[in-house]
Amino acid sequence: MKRGTFISFEGGEGSGKSTQIRFVASYFRRKRRKVLVVREPGSTRLGESVRKILLNVRNRNMSVETELFFYLAARAQLVREVIGPALRQGYVVISDRFEDSTLVYQGYAGGLGLARLATMVREARGNVVPSMTFLLDVEPRKGLLRSGRRDRMERKSILFHERIRKGYLLLARRYPKRFVVISSRLSKSEVRSAIRRTLDRVYSRSR
Ligand code: TMP
Repeated sequence: MKRGTFISFEGGEGSGKSTQIRFVASYFRRKRRKVLVVREPGSTRLGESVRKILLNVRNRNMSVETELFFYLAARAQLVREVIGPALRQGYVVISDRFEDSTLVYQGYAGGLGLARLATMVREARGNVVPSMTFLLDVEPRKGLLRSGRRDRMERKSILFHERIRKGYLLLARRYPKRFVVISSRLSKSEVRSAIRRTLDRVYSRSR
């Protein structure tokens, strides 16, 4: 039986996920919960190797299908090696990206289609599903400027990143109970307050 809490963070490039993830981690640590932060793709030896392949600009001719299987492989390993066991031990697991990234980047913006990916993403994650997903919604131009990185994924066209944003908002409308959408137009501290209010409302009575 799962006893932990699983929260994911999603958003386009430069949406400020890392800062807010650190905040959520300390929020739960103050509540004396055991906390584990992971990132996708990565956080296992296998996953970090896969990440290097995926983000390497020399792999610019990688097909979107190849991308899909690499991301799913990294996730399948992370869920079985790290997230699943941690949840069974009662941890709060916070993941920097999870399944919605695949649905949006490869399925929606990448053109493979959301419906077509449904079974595959489920196979990869097994029965591990976030109970809450924070979507940090950012305008692509702003986000890309802010992120400053130029890896293989970030070099894709601005149009691609516009579609990422649209795809996320579509998923958020489809799963309103799980998604909490926060505009990155707010200041860092306003974003943090919005997150804190949500956590207080949902988790204030938990352990
Ligand atoms: P990031 O974690 O630094 O944002 O980088 C990961 C990159 O990989 C980012 O561009 C989003 C992309 N990505 C996908 O395209 N599909 C996925 O399933 C995941 C987890 C990430």
